[in-house]
Amino acid sequence: MQKKTNDKDMPPQICRPLASKSKRGGGNHKFFLKTYGCQMNKLDSEAIAGALSELGYEMTVSEKEADIILLNTCSVRDLAEKKALGKLGLLKKLKKKKGNLLIGLAGCLAQHKGEEILKKNPHLDFVVGTREIDRIPELIAEAVERKKRISALSSCREIKEPSSYLRADNIKAFVYVMRGCENYCSYCIVPYVRGPEKSRPSKDIVSEIKSLADSGYKEVCLLGQNVNSYGRGLKEGIDFSGLLEKINSIEGIYRIRFVTSHPKDISEKLIDSIADLDKVCESIHFPLQSGSDKILKLMNRGYDLSDYIKIVDRLRGQVPDVSISTDIIVGFPGETEEDFNRTVKTFEEIRFDSSFIFKYSHRGGTAASRLEDDVPFDVKLERNKCLLSLQGEISQKKNDCLIGEKQEVLVEGPSRKNIKMYTGRTRQNKIAIFPGCDDIKGKLVSFIPERASPNVFYGKIENSKL
Ligand code: 5AD
Ligand code: SF4
Repeated sequence: MQKKTNDKDMPPQICRPLASKSKRGGGNHKFFLKTYGCQMNKLDSEAIAGALSELGYEMTVSEKEADIILLNTCSVRDLAEKKALGKLGLLKKLKKKKGNLLIGLAGCLAQHKGEEILKKNPHLDFVVGTREIDRIPELIAEAVERKKRISALSSCREIKEPSSYLRADNIKAFVYVMRGCENYCSYCIVPYVRGPEKSRPSKDIVSEIKSLADSGYKEVCLLGQNVNSYGRGLKEGIDFSGLLEKINSIEGIYRIRFVTSHPKDISEKLIDSIADLDKVCESIHFPLQSGSDKILKLMNRGYDLSDYIKIVDRLRGQVPDVSISTDIIVGFPGETEEDFNRTVKTFEEIRFDSSFIFKYSHRGGTAASRLEDDVPFDVKLERNKCLLSLQGEISQKKNDCLIGEKQEVLVEGPSRKNIKMYTGRTRQNKIAIFPGCDDIKGKLVSFIPERASPNVFYGKIENSKL
């Protein structure tokens, strides 16, 4: 494992999940970490795991074996909150059996309702919000040494970039380019729990990605709630296209992806970057949320359907093989059958490659929480099912058209579902499954799809490109 450094200019170190001895007490201390929610939470968990590994803790997949259990939570929808709280409740028994077990709650739900949850759950030792995850080692030491229950929930502290990550993957890595969001979409809790937007200086990002490339990573996915507004507030005068250009020239990195793009901030320059920069993949996720202008306005999204369609047309004009994925919320307050049918029609017209469809979930404190949550649950469910099935048909047809068409695939390793097969992704971010061997892991290969499901291509490799 690499050593921790305090040098601010050094890129974060990459830790691998090696077994190590705890520096506290000399025993073999273990931590169990469960992550709920989005890629940002997954990346935060990799940072938490990196910090705990540096402390000498070993990661375990068994809760019973753990000395520390951490839940890194999400509060975007009620269901995510319920899952985390349910899990926390179940841990009570384990805590009773194992008195010295430490239990912590981190992330968005902790930020949102940490104090209340701490009060209601005497078996919970600490809560830590989204701006203080770098303090977890210090909080653990405090909880152990002072036998104190702790909350660290500052809403204004400057976030410190982690000094190391224990990454789940060794081919693809997520990299923060900005944090927070100030778009205040009316349904969304994120601006309240993740705070205002802040871009990272490009030299820090480039240095982190160079270090990833040196460690053998081939693909980076740049993360931010709204990557297209990257650069706002930075003195260096750079925008997201400028950042992509810098990353595109990093040797050893083959592919660049990014999430999430807000339609109101997708510029012509960004579309040019996708078209012109060879490592930037032809794949973009930009949430539409609804096909009804009335609902988009109520959602405070800052664009209407025609603006969105213009971007789709421009993208497809300049990058013909681009894949487009989206997010949709069904059952937003006031969504009538007619509004929903507009979304259905938009799906039929745009024909997304894939989509994530969510049932509207009332979030206390957001602007939409002042509107009546008037679409009954079974109607939300029906609309959700309808879009899922429509998307399934569209994805199947789109994928069928690509049977026999050569695709560039970055090989990630053995498939989890069938270890005899290998898996990777096309530039359009579609999953490919094929017979392979470890020699091609981390390589770009030429893949021929032979059959497809809505989400996966099955086929064979023609040759290794690199
Ligand atoms: N209810 C349902 N879905 C939501 N999302 C965000 N907030 C809510 C909510 N209150 C969805 C949006 C966003 C995705 C990450 O989660 O579609 O793009
Ligand atoms: Fe939430 Fe809107 Fe910000 Fe996305 S852009 S995180 S939906 S407020």
